[in-house]
Formats: sequence, structure tokens, C-alpha cells
Amino acid sequence: MMGSSRWKIAVVVFLSVAEILMPIEADEHEHTYTDKEEVVLWMNTVGPYHNRQETYKYFSLPFCVGTKKTISHYHETLGEALQGVELEFSGLDIKFKDEVMQTTYCEIELDKAKRDAFVYAIKNHYWYQMYIDDLPIWGIVGEADENGEDHYLWTYKKLEIGFNGNRIVDVNLTSEGKVKLVPNTRIAMSYSVKWKKSDVKFEDRFDKYLDPSFFQHRIHWFSIFNSFMMVIFLVGLVSMILMRTLRKDYARYSKEEEMDDMDRDLGDEYGWKQVHGDVFRPSSHPMIFSSLIGSGCQIFSVSFIVIVVAMIEDLYTERGSMLSTAIFVYAATSPVNGYFGGSLYAKQGGRRWIKQMFIGAFLIPAMVCGTAFFINFIAMYYHASRAIPFGTMVAVCCICLFVILPLNLVGTILGRNLSGQPNFPCRVNAVPRPIPEKKWFMEPAVIVCLGGILPFGSIFIEMYFIFTSFWAYKIYYVYGFMMLVLVILCIVTVCVTIVCTYFLLNAEDYRWQWTSFLSAASTAVYVYMYSFYYYFFKTKMYGLFQTSFYFGYMAVFSTSLGIMCGAVGYVGTSAFVRKIYTNVKID
Ligand SMILES: *[C@@H]1O[C@H](CO)[C@@H](O)[C@H](O)[C@H]1NC(C)=O
Repeated sequence: MMGSSRWKIAVVVFLSVAEILMPIEADEHEHTYTDKEEVVLWMNTVGPYHNRQETYKYFSLPFCVGTKKTISHYHETLGEALQGVELEFSGLDIKFKDEVMQTTYCEIELDKAKRDAFVYAIKNHYWYQMYIDDLPIWGIVGEADENGEDHYLWTYKKLEIGFNGNRIVDVNLTSEGKVKLVPNTRIAMSYSVKWKKSDVKFEDRFDKYLDPSFFQHRIHWFSIFNSFMMVIFLVGLVSMILMRTLRKDYARYSKEEEMDDMDRDLGDEYGWKQVHGDVFRPSSHPMIFSSLIGSGCQIFSVSFIVIVVAMIEDLYTERGSMLSTAIFVYAATSPVNGYFGGSLYAKQGGRRWIKQMFIGAFLIPAMVCGTAFFINFIAMYYHASRAIPFGTMVAVCCICLFVILPLNLVGTILGRNLSGQPNFPCRVNAVPRPIPEKKWFMEPAVIVCLGGILPFGSIFIEMYFIFTSFWAYKIYYVYGFMMLVLVILCIVTVCVTIVCTYFLLNAEDYRWQWTSFLSAASTAVYVYMYSFYYYFFKTKMYGLFQTSFYFGYMAVFSTSLGIMCGAVGYVGTSAFVRKIYTNVKID
């Protein structure tokens, strides 16, 4: 027993590494068939219609298996394992272009326990999912009558398969044969297969699963247009305000320059120039701060690359390939994290860089794995197929230790050596300047809360589409929109944090690093609040498992988004701060 599980882990680790090396070619199928060649119907999962992410093994319901037993082995990829894909052979005998009349393939002996299992599934609107040649098929388990007393099971699966040349291009399933569930009876399950010539091209066979009327709805175009207008307005506003105010500030400062010392002592110097001896003082908690910035830069590059890949390749046509790609890109972009985190830490005069590197490298993986681990416990209790297999967990840990960590180390060393010098335009004074009293709305906490509103406003319509495709049966495919939204989000975030920082520095408060990070990151708080609204008004989830699953993963998503926005805001703002202090003359 021990030996076999260890062997299984070795295989999973090997497969995952192989998959990391060639992530796109994970499929074993050629997708071409000769006449009478075996076509496999894989049973995947069952689960409530209202939550696409809660799934159980198909055979966790007491369905029966067909008679055919011999089947070539199915290899599972890492992305599939993490998403709870569990393909099992249906036992149905299907051959390419071979018609099958209605045939009984097995019988269920319905005792009380089995009946209760089916009734529970029917009451919760369970759907099951199957695959033929990678095409997903959904079917409903059963139906209750109006007053909810009698429950019926659909027993006849009528498959109509469209072929174009030697390829399968279309599958339709019709459920028939409604049978009332009465304990201690036998229920015969049957199927039939009809083959039809079809004109659908192989490349277009996934088109019928996409929902253009949903994703390319007027609202979606309108929101993009709206956000775009907002960007133009905001960029114009920011550059106008800053140009005018900065020019005025510079003029004032140079006039003061010309006054003699007497006058200057009497003169009222104020504004951001006053804090020139403190703006480049290291932030508080430099270790965690630079780790956050490094991780945020990495999340940004992962999002960018994955969206570009998704725009080029139709990732939705292969199970789990989106997740596999994301994991691969995450591992491969680890040097980015090390570079930005390490160089920032060195600039801030940090000495314990090895500790910083560990924190930076494992911040995001620990957050994601911690949440997944917690939800896994609950999933195991409910026997959901979402419970991540032990071997997969080991594989993920191996990737963290043997891929992500070394690449981070490379990035950190590069970052420390190439741009680790604190070459700031102004010297840092030995003694910190006291921060003067200011109006309540200039307090960093208030600025942080207000900072996220505009960035959130530019993305929340897109959030609706992303949430809906994640939690309901819609395939997200409009990655061009997503790319636009990402770009818009970054521009808005940078503009907003620059304005916030300008006001803060003008109030002679030099604690701008954390303020700029947090004011951008507060977008995530609004997204998380929106996810509460979405949960209560747009989904029909309930129960401990669904609730913890939803809020757990939404928290992970929001936090990652927040760290990304924070890093983008900070990077933009620090360029701005450098710029304004480079141009001012300091005596
Ligand atoms: C499946 O159903 C759709 C819509 O009803 C139809 O256009 C298509 O021809 C059907 N395909 C097959 C193979 O029967």
C-alpha cells in the first residue's frame, strides 16, 4: 500500500515537471479517428447547477458502469488535478461512425440508500458532465414533480455525434426515459448513438459553447468605453494639475532662492520641498514591503503573459490548460519577483536579504496553498472531487522548492548587484523631521481608503463577467477585453496614487511608500466587498462547503489583485517622486 502510493507520487511529480517543460502539448489525443475506431466517453463529475466549482466524482452517485472494461489509460495533468477533473470510463461501447440503437448497458438495483442519494442530487439540481474527444457534455440527473414528492431519474442517454471527415466536431445529448425512483426496484440505464455528417470545422467546434450574446453584450462594450473615457479624463486631469502646480511650486522655490538668508528665514517655506531630507528614508518594515512589491510585480507579469497566451491560443478548449499555463508562467517569472524585491530591499539598506528572498518567494504560494489546504479539509469532509490529491500537493511543493526558489535567488542576486544602489537625488537627513498636524482628510488612512474607489470603478463590470464565468457555466473567452481592462486598471491606479502622494507630500508627510502601496491596494477591498454582493444576489450557493470555498478563493483573488495594484501604484509613484525631487534645487 505504502509502496504504491509513493510510486504514484513519483509519477505525478514526473508528469508535472514534464508538463512544466512542455505545457501546451499535454494532450494524448490526435483528435482523428478511423472508421470503427474506439471513441471514449469519459464521465467526469456531478455537482449542483448553481455552483460550477462544487463537484463530486460522477460515480459518487450510485450510477452503474457499462460492461466494456478494457480502456487505454488516461493521463491527468497538473492543472486538471488541481481543478478536480476526474475522468472515469463510462463503460459504454462507442465506435466512430457506428450507430447504436437504444441499448441497456447496466441496471441499478435501487435500495433505500441509493434512492436517497439520487433524491438528494435531484433536489439540489445536480448536473453531470462527460467528455467525448475533449468536448464537454452536460446532462441533468433527474427531475422532481411540481409538489416535490416524487422524484424521477433520466435513464436514457441519447447521443448525437456530428463528424466532419475523420474528426468529431459536435455532440448533443438528449435525456429521455423518465423513471420514478421507488426503493427496491431495478432501473435499466440505456444509451444510443447516432452519427451525423456536419459542416462545422474542427477549429470552430468549441464555438457553440461560447456565449457571445452574454460576453459581447452592449453593457460590456459600454463599460470598456466608459473606463476608457475615464482614463483619458484622469490622465488629462493629473497631468494638468501636476504641470500647473509643479510649475508654480518650482517658480516659488526659485524665487526664494534669490532672496538673501535674512528674508528666507522670515519667508514661509512650505510644501513638498520641505521633506526632501526624508522622502527617500527607508519605509517602515522594509523587508515585508519589498517582498510585497516584488510579488506584485510578478503577479502583474503573470497576468499579462497569461492573458496574451489566452488571446493567441484558445486555452478553453483543453481541460485545465489555463491553470497549467498560469502555474508554469508563475514559476518562470520568479526572477522578476526576486529582482524587484531584492533591489528595493538593498536600496533601503536592508541587510538580511536571504530572509527577504524567502519571504518574497513564498508569500503568494503560501497564501494560495494555505487557503487551498483549509478548503481541502472541508472538501474532504464532503468527499468533493475538489479535494486535491496528496500526490498533487507534493508536486506543487516540489515546484516551489526546486523551481521557484532557485529562480528567485537568481533574480535577487541580479537585482542587488544591478540596481541595489541607493542613488537617490536628495540626501537623507540623520534626524527624521516631525510630521506637522494636518486636516483629517490628509491623513494616510483616509487617503488609503479613497484611493481604491476609481480603480475599482474602472474594473467592476469586468469583475461581473469574470465571476460569472468562474462560478457559473460560461466559458470566458473575451481575453481582449480583459487585456484592455488590465491596461486601464494600471493607468488609473498610477494616476490616482500619484495624486494621493502629491497631496501627502504637500502636507509635509513623507511616509509615502506604504501610503501609495496601500491606496492602490485598497481596490482589492472594494472587489472583495463586491464579491459579497455577487454572492448574495447573483448566485444561489449555500452550505458550509460552498460558502467557504467561495469566500476563500475570492479572498485569494482579491489579495493577489491588491498586491498587484499596490506594486503598480508604488512603481509609478516612485518614478514620479524621483522626478520631482531631481528637478528641484536643494541647498
Ligand atoms: C445539435 O443541436 C444543434 C442545435 O439544436 C443542431 O444545430 C446540431 O445540428 C445538432 N448536432 C448534431 C450532431 O445532432
